[in-house]
Parts: sequence; C-alpha cells; structure tokens
Amino acid sequence: MAKKDKVLIFDTTLRDGEQAPGASMNEKEKLEIAYGLERLGIDIIEAGFPVISKGDFDSVQMVAKHIKTSTVCGLARSIKKDIEAAADAVKPAKKKRIHVFLATSKIHLQHKLRKSEDEILKMAVDAVTLARQKVDDVEFSPEDASRSEKEFLFRILEAVIKAGATTVNIPDTVGYGVPSEYGRLIADIANNVPNINKAIISTHCHDDLGLAVANSLAGVMNGARQVECTINGVGERAGNASLEEIVMAINTRSDVYGCTTNVKTKEICRVSRLVSKATGFVVPPNKAIVGANAFRHESGIHQDGVLKERTTYEIIRPEDVGFHGTGLVLGKHSGRHAFRDRLKALGVILKDKELDTAFERFKAVADKKKQVFDEDLIAIVEDEIKVFQKIWSLDSVTYQSGTNVKPQVEVVLKSKGKKYTKSSSGDGPVDACYKAIDAITKLKGELIDYSIQSVTRGKDALGEVMVKVKMDGKQVIAHGTSTDILEASAKAYINAVNKTLSQKKDTKK
Ligand code: KIV
Ligand code: ZN
Repeated sequence: MAKKDKVLIFDTTLRDGEQAPGASMNEKEKLEIAYGLERLGIDIIEAGFPVISKGDFDSVQMVAKHIKTSTVCGLARSIKKDIEAAADAVKPAKKKRIHVFLATSKIHLQHKLRKSEDEILKMAVDAVTLARQKVDDVEFSPEDASRSEKEFLFRILEAVIKAGATTVNIPDTVGYGVPSEYGRLIADIANNVPNINKAIISTHCHDDLGLAVANSLAGVMNGARQVECTINGVGERAGNASLEEIVMAINTRSDVYGCTTNVKTKEICRVSRLVSKATGFVVPPNKAIVGANAFRHESGIHQDGVLKERTTYEIIRPEDVGFHGTGLVLGKHSGRHAFRDRLKALGVILKDKELDTAFERFKAVADKKKQVFDEDLIAIVEDEIKVFQKIWSLDSVTYQSGTNVKPQVEVVLKSKGKKYTKSSSGDGPVDACYKAIDAITKLKGELIDYSIQSVTRGKDALGEVMVKVKMDGKQVIAHGTSTDILEASAKAYINAVNKTLSQKKDTKK
C-alpha cells in the first residue's frame, strides 16, 4: 500500500480562537491549553499576536518557553515592529515560526490598505525577508485570499516563496468560499505558482456559511498539507474550522483523503473541555465528535443494532476520541486507590496534595449521589485543581426562598483560616448570594452571563455553573459544581473572585 501523506495540523485556538467575542483567556489558561495541544500531538501552535498587547506578548513567550514538541508560532502584520515582536516572543521555543499576513483582495487594497498591487507585493516580500532573518520557518498569508484576483495571488505567492516563505496559507477570511470553489483555488495554486514545490500549502477557513470544515477538506483533497483550525471551532464571528472534525474526517475516511495526521485522537475530548471551560463557550450537545450526544443512541432500533454489532450505527469508537461513557464507576465505599486508578484510566494524574483535595470532594459528592460517573470525576477534579490561587473558599451557604417569599441567603466564606458571614436578600437566591459575596470580599462584580448544565443525567446529577463576571474592570470566566445549584452558583462566583485577585497579584509581580 502506498504511504499516506501527512497533513500538518496548525492550531490557532490561542490566536484566532481567542478573537471570538468574549473569549479572552489569561496567561495560565493559555499555557494549560498549550500543554493540552502538545499532548494532542499538534504540529504547530499559533500562540498569539505578540505586538497587540503586553499580555499577548507575554503569553506567547510563556508558551514558547514551555512547549517542547510542537512548533510555537507568533502572528505579525507585514510591518517591522510586528515581526520583531513575534520574533522576540517565540525566541525561547525549541521549534519556532513567524506567521506574516497581508491582505490581497481588491476590496481590502482599495478600502483598508489604500495601496496598489505592486506596493502590496513589495511589502509582503520585505516582510518575509525580514522574518526569515529571524527564524527559518516562515508562513505567509494573503488575507482574504478566496476573494483575491487569482493572477495577483499567484504572483505574490511566487514572490514570497522566493523570499523564503516555507508555508503559504490561503485564508477564506470572511467564510465566503464553497467547497468546489475553494478546492479549485488550492489546485490552481498548486498548478500555477512555479516554485510551489518549495512550500507547503495551508488552508484557513472561517465558518460564516457553516462550510469551514468542508472547505478545509476540499483543500486537502486538492493538495493542501497543512490545515489551520481551532478546538471546538471557536474563533472570530461564526468561528474557524473545527480541529476535531477535520482530524476525525481525515482519520475515519482515509480511504477518501489518503492522508494521516500526527494527532493523538484519544486526547480530543479532554482538550475540548479545557477550551470550553476557559472560553466559557458551552459545547452544544449535538456538536460532531465532542458534543454530549455525539455517541448517544436514543432510538430503540439503533440501541438494538449497536448492542448486536457496534458498527451498525457507530462510525467512530467513542474511546478513540477520549469520550467516556456514563458507566457507573465509583460509589461512597470506593477507596483512595480506586479513585486514583480510575482518574489515571481517564488520563488524569494528580500530585499527592491535589489527590487528597479531590478525594475529599469525591467523598462528599458520593455521599449525596449514589452513582458517581466518569464525567462527575472529571468535573470534581477540574473544580478542585485551579489555575489560580484559592484566596476565598466557601464554608457554607444557607437560604430561604420560594413562591411569595423574598429570597434570603446567608453566606460563610473562609480566607486564611478566618470565617466571614453575611446575610443578604435579592431578586432571587443567586442575586442575594452574589450580593453577600460582594459584601464580604469587597469586590463588586457585574454578572454578564450565567449558565447551568447537568454533568450527567438524573435528578441527583452534579450541576455545573459557568459565570462570566466583570470585576475590577476585567472580565473573567469561572465555574463551580455541586449537587446543590445554589452552592454551585456560589462556588463559580467565588472562583471568579479568586481569579480576579490572582490576576491582580500576577500583574503586580
Ligand atoms: O482569517 C484570516 O485571514 C486570518 C489571517 C491572519 C490568517 O486569521
Ligand atoms: Zn482567521
């Protein structure tokens, strides 16, 4: 059998993904995600756009310092100061890349850049030449390529490859392309750019028409050997092509695509959850590959078929993407060893102290909830192992509420061994609870978004609350879980307080 071509996976969750409205992540969350992407076997991680802020520069540099196996990439406009910032930020990386971009469509040239084609061509060549003086691995993107004149596109690609670009990326910046047309564009580039054999062709598709994955795969069918995508498809406007869908399509239908990737698919669900938590974007249950219902068979006919032979209705084995079923795993009589072994089987390895805290929490949950599922264990661990300091913690929350009763909540918080109590009333129990926490912590939060989801099924399921809160002029996202939804709400809000205070401490350092 002929050897299959490799398609490189370029993840831009930390750059284009973070451009999704309301998705900004802090440095520690970005590093956690970068580790997750490295475990996933991602070839290139685009860690950010270093010139746009000190925060962006620092997080690209932090990723560059810690990531060893993936290439770390920084984005730059075709401007000297951008390229210098990107070069400085990726400098500590073992494998580094600078990604320069410049718009090439008539619309962008006339209205945004107000430059002629020749001026643009010179800027692109100068930018790639400078980037190549800094690193050996340089990518060039003609922004809005799918709406650019093909002749000009071929000309600029030939010129940047001559100047040293090792990857040429073809963005469908506004998500306007359709698969037949985008695939044709990639084929035309492969056939009309004389020195194209010196560079890898890459796809970068946005999802405005819901075609980002289909367009990217059409690109692969026509010779692209790098795909740019994001976890859960997060990104600017309707988002980018979803990484998990592309990888699993290439994997599952290798008979059609004739390609492979380096992705370790068993890590997919874990990273998906990590990104969902950090961005606050809940994954819809019907989302392909990572949605809660992606492997659930409800119809009796389907269930019967799967029980007789899995392949009747399943094209992917759930465990191949790290999706764990809701089989009963542990109960209140389970010991520390069983708890640790089950976590290990789920790919979670904790340090002794973290294991102690998580086990204590597991015991409390198992006391209230007879059946503790894998999803519960993951939620417990994620809830306990925070990427920020636990300055405040919840001791207790008691409330009185109901029809025709004004909600009254008493909150007891702990900090440095001392307890603080406050009672409050409000429009509802959550409002009253948050007012009490504000009064104790002296940090007034504005609740921007709140959602609650059950972690598993059943009336005794753990509830997971996500809050998006503006505190101290900054927006933070935090979570909390409990079988009691007011307790979960209180924990989520306290985590938002802790995150805000930790970030304040970090910036003072
Ligand atoms: O969508 C786009 O054009 C981009 C470029 C910076 C590659 O994100
Ligand atoms: Zn983009």
